[in-house]
Order: sequence, then structure tokens, then C-alpha cells
Amino acid sequence: MHDDIEILLSAEKIAARVREMGAEITRDYAGTPVTLVGTLKGATIFLADLARAIDLDVELEFIKVSSYGNSTEGSSITLDFPFAPDYTNRHIILVEDIVDMGYTAKWLREFVAGFNPASVRLCSLLDKPGRRKAEGVEIDYLGFTIPDEFVVGYGLDFAQKYRTLPYVGVLRR
Ligand code: IMP
Ligand code: MG
Repeated sequence: MHDDIEILLSAEKIAARVREMGAEITRDYAGTPVTLVGTLKGATIFLADLARAIDLDVELEFIKVSSYGNSTEGSSITLDFPFAPDYTNRHIILVEDIVDMGYTAKWLREFVAGFNPASVRLCSLLDKPGRRKAEGVEIDYLGFTIPDEFVVGYGLDFAQKYRTLPYVGVLRR
């Protein structure tokens, strides 16, 4: 169907890595309940698989933010999703689809830290370190480092399209 997409990470490769990430989180938290906070909409597919690979009590929350601006000016982030769950005293794992310039991840970490959670870590399926602009963004659990290409699938979109592809691929237009 999608001749315009070159597969970068197959469904099998993603599934294997997501299982490993779940096992790593399970070991690190050793019986402690965790709260996964997924960023809408891109992280939903990854979060659904990751959550089921974690053998702990897992609670799910979602957040939606928008970023404005560009790489030269820096970006400003606004919260779109008006409900703010109480993250206080919970062990939070922020779940992102991709860390690109890094502004979103940085903003989310600071936002959640304001609630005095028990801990905050960042988990991302993908990282494009070649595009980083924000300083001090550390990814605690990372699926794959990818080259500086625009990718779609497994939750990631281009103009809301391609999110449901089972693989991650590069859009060739
Ligand atoms: P950042 O603030 O630049 O790190 O933005 C991260 C957000 O930009 C991600 O959550 C995605 O929604 C979007 N994004 C960045 N790179 C890509 C890509 O290659 N494909 C699809 N969306 C992307
Ligand atoms: Mg997006």
C-alpha cells in the first residue's frame, strides 16, 4: 500500500526492543507501582505495547501539548489537554514517541516535576540526537537512535496520516 515509505524499523524489531525496555523498567522499579504518562497522540501505540511488557502495577495517564516556533528561535510549548492529573508522590515515566529538538521532553519533565512526584524518568521509542536544540535532555529508556530523517508509523504521523502502520519508516516524497 505505502510505496512512498522506506522501512527503517520493522514491526518485529520494534516488538523485540519494546519487550526489552519493559523488562528493564520491571527490573529497575522492582515491585514499585509506576505511572506511564503518554503524550498524545504519537506515543499511544508505543505506550500500549510498552505497558503490557512491564510486569508491575502500571497506571496510565495522558497529556497533550503543542509546540510553536522553529529550531532557530527555540520552541514554546503549551498544554492542550486541560485535565491535569495529580502526579504527586507517584513514580512517573514520561512516554514519548520521539525526542527531536528536545523542547517537548524538557517541558514535560519540568511540568511534571512541579507536582512533586516520587520520581520522573523519560522513556522514548526514538531519538534523533542530530536535531537536538534543548539542553540537558536525558533519555532514561531509549528504543532506537535514528538518523536525521522524518519518520512515520507506529504512532508517528505526517499531517495525521500513517500513525497506524506497524513499522517505522522514512517518508520519501
Ligand atoms: P521536539 O520538541 O522537537 O523534541 O518534538 C517532538 C515532537 O515532534 C514529537 O513528539 C513528534 O510529535 C514530532 N516529531 C519530531 N520528529 C518527528 C518525525 O520524524 N516524525 C513525526 N513526528 C516527529
Ligand atoms: Mg506529531
